[in-house]
Amino acid sequence: MKQIPQSFINDLLARCDLIELINNRVVLRKKGNNYTACCPFHDEKTPSFIVNATKQLYHCFGCGVGGNAISFLMDYDHLTFVEAIETLAAQFGLTVPREAGAPIAARPDADLYYIMTQASRYYQRQLRDQFVAIDYLKQRGLSGQIAKEFGIGYALPGWDDLIKAFQKPEILPQLLSVGLVIKKEQKFYDRFRDRIMFPIRDRRGRVIGFGGRIIEKGEPKYLNSPETPIFHKGRELYGLYEAYQVLRDLPRLVVVEGYMDVVALAQHGIRYAVATLGTAITTEHIRALFRATSEVIFCFDGDNAGKAAAWRALEVTLPLLQDGIQVRFLLLPDKEDPDSLVRQEGAETFEQRIQKALPLADFLFNHLVKQADLSSLEGKA
Ligand code: UTP
Ligand code: MN
Repeated sequence: MKQIPQSFINDLLARCDLIELINNRVVLRKKGNNYTACCPFHDEKTPSFIVNATKQLYHCFGCGVGGNAISFLMDYDHLTFVEAIETLAAQFGLTVPREAGAPIAARPDADLYYIMTQASRYYQRQLRDQFVAIDYLKQRGLSGQIAKEFGIGYALPGWDDLIKAFQKPEILPQLLSVGLVIKKEQKFYDRFRDRIMFPIRDRRGRVIGFGGRIIEKGEPKYLNSPETPIFHKGRELYGLYEAYQVLRDLPRLVVVEGYMDVVALAQHGIRYAVATLGTAITTEHIRALFRATSEVIFCFDGDNAGKAAAWRALEVTLPLLQDGIQVRFLLLPDKEDPDSLVRQEGAETFEQRIQKALPLADFLFNHLVKQADLSSLEGKA
């Protein structure tokens, strides 16, 4: 890997507002010329974490950590040095340069992330004056604040509003490649039209795909980005980045089935839900879950399809089980999902359900008991 020029790093640091960067993750309070907070890197009750706006540096008098925007991103977002620089650069729409002689493999897909982020901002802007879409979200119980945190937007009904918004025909190949545009009989169209747009973000907050829900009735209910060079459904968990933004350590994660389930739970203060993207749970999902937390609760509909899905999840999980990790199963009452339930019964009752979720061993045993004929000795074994 070739060096990133120091001049580029200096330029990034000069452009970056450390107060804003930190305040997006930890609420800061102004105190004289500085800002303070309880230190995010150790447990404390009185604030000894200080951010200096002029010097663009932070320091904790309690535990001694300190540094600049890059070290903060590395420690807080668990990034490598290069990832932290890429994250900052992406905020300004910059591609990280490599010093001469760098291998050509200098991230050919870097600008695909940028295009997705621009598209996501565009969809968010469209939502602002689309009353039908806003009403729909309100009627589903979402506040403007939560919609903003999840970056929810709206795709206009026209055939090529997004294409027009990008203005440059030369980026059509990239728009095709990230799945925002489809090509039919030599013509280009927006893939997402007249849909509520849920951006799917990776661990670092970059938009890598979208799920688009139709507002009224229609097929398909959810249209998702296809597999692209930067989006692999079998790997990503919707809501994981957003959960990390609120809860620095994730004591547990609840795995639900839909975008709306994640967002509705967040609306009710349950900020630790994630969803697979309309696919069955994969080994890669389980690995990502186990890396992020030590307690996983799989939540499924109580109908037969839900039970079958729960069983599949168990089969994928079994070979990966590790010491110190708890896995439990929560089957919901028939015809309900986490969104409908949490809205009916509130967060407290829903969290009690989570608390009472069945440990994996019990779930496994119950299932086997149903399958095996207990009157035969073989079955008991
Ligand atoms: P559901 O059909 O259970 O919908 O799909 P939902 O989550 O309850 O959605 P609302 O409440 O009606 O808005 C669960 C998940 O399956 C995927 C999506 O990821 C969705 O969130 N799905 C569903 C699709 O990808 N395409 C579809 O047409 C339907
Ligand atoms: Mn639902």
